Amino acid sequence: MHILGIETSCDETGVAVFHSDKGLIAESLYSQISLHAPYGGVVPELASRDHISRILPLVKSTLAAADLHLTDLDAVAYTAGPGLLGALLVGATFGRSLAYSLGIPAIAINHMEAHLLAPLLGMDSADTQPGFPFVALLVSGGHTQLVRVNAIGDYTILGASIDDAAGEAFDKTAKVLGLDYPGGPSIARWALQGRAGRFSFPRPMLDRPGCDFSFSGLKTHALTTIRKLEPLSDQDKADIAYAFEEAVVETLFAKCSRAMQETGARHLILAGGVAANLRLRSRMKDLASAPKNVSVHYPPTRLCTDNGGMIAWAGYLRLRAGESAPLAIDTRARWPISELSSDPAPELRSPS
Ligand code: KG4
Ligand code: ZN
Repeated sequence: MHILGIETSCDETGVAVFHSDKGLIAESLYSQISLHAPYGGVVPELASRDHISRILPLVKSTLAAADLHLTDLDAVAYTAGPGLLGALLVGATFGRSLAYSLGIPAIAINHMEAHLLAPLLGMDSADTQPGFPFVALLVSGGHTQLVRVNAIGDYTILGASIDDAAGEAFDKTAKVLGLDYPGGPSIARWALQGRAGRFSFPRPMLDRPGCDFSFSGLKTHALTTIRKLEPLSDQDKADIAYAFEEAVVETLFAKCSRAMQETGARHLILAGGVAANLRLRSRMKDLASAPKNVSVHYPPTRLCTDNGGMIAWAGYLRLRAGESAPLAIDTRARWPISELSSDPAPELRSPS
């Protein structure tokens, strides 16, 4: 079975084909980074327009790379939300129309569920897959959430950011530091030259019970530090990047540790763009060692940030679970993962 995955929720046009026996057999990504870089953030209107011009050529070239024709496809999966509405509509209308014209199912995918399921790609057997329930840390530009995964499609939110997402805090702090967009990878690069101990940034919400996060105070702390030092030398920037990254990583680590303790789960999955952060990955190794002995799983870096592969894979899992494929085209800018179920998204069904 071949499933075409289409991702257009933000600033990446991602297309991939998942094969039920062979796994991901073709993946293409067109990143709009250079389009948005001059603005220091994603401009929604530009994003939608660019998806429109990229989507068809990208689907054609992805199929050609896998030596496939449209008629070889068995289903189309597309991101239906959460995300930028105009951008989502491009993938949704394209995906549904293509599926309709081919007479095959079109599956509406929740972007955050796709991030969450991405680490399971390549672990599609009972021996290698983490047993339920496991905990997932979803850390992207739009979300920071700790989720207990009771089963595929059955999610309990353990905690979430009460203000900025971790990736958003990276992006905004990088902007005030004058670093390149997107901010996460830039801060990580600059932090490599940073010195430990010069600045100590707060670890937000660690003194409070539960698994919620807050990152906007950290961003403000960075801003205040910058304003006091201006003009910044390269070493100042590197030291601030170091302290900022350390504070985010330590906060995420502490909350994950708490979530593992509270749930008694043995497996932790890290997903979303910020899960590409090497310092975070390295810190999480401490959960793997005794006495905690948690197994920590990450997708490969290319599957951490937005991509079509995770959408095709999520589509396959949902189809396998018997998901119906309605004809209505519906997208949602907000779509909490806790509203999903194994018989998902009633609001995405056509009126009967
Ligand atoms: O999952 P993603 O590609 O898009 C959303 O769904 O938001 O995540 C993008 C976010 C951006 O905020 C970006 O700065 C951050 O992930 N990011 C990183 C790294 N790579 C991407 N943050 C920290 N370190 C990284 N290496
Ligand atoms: Zn994402």
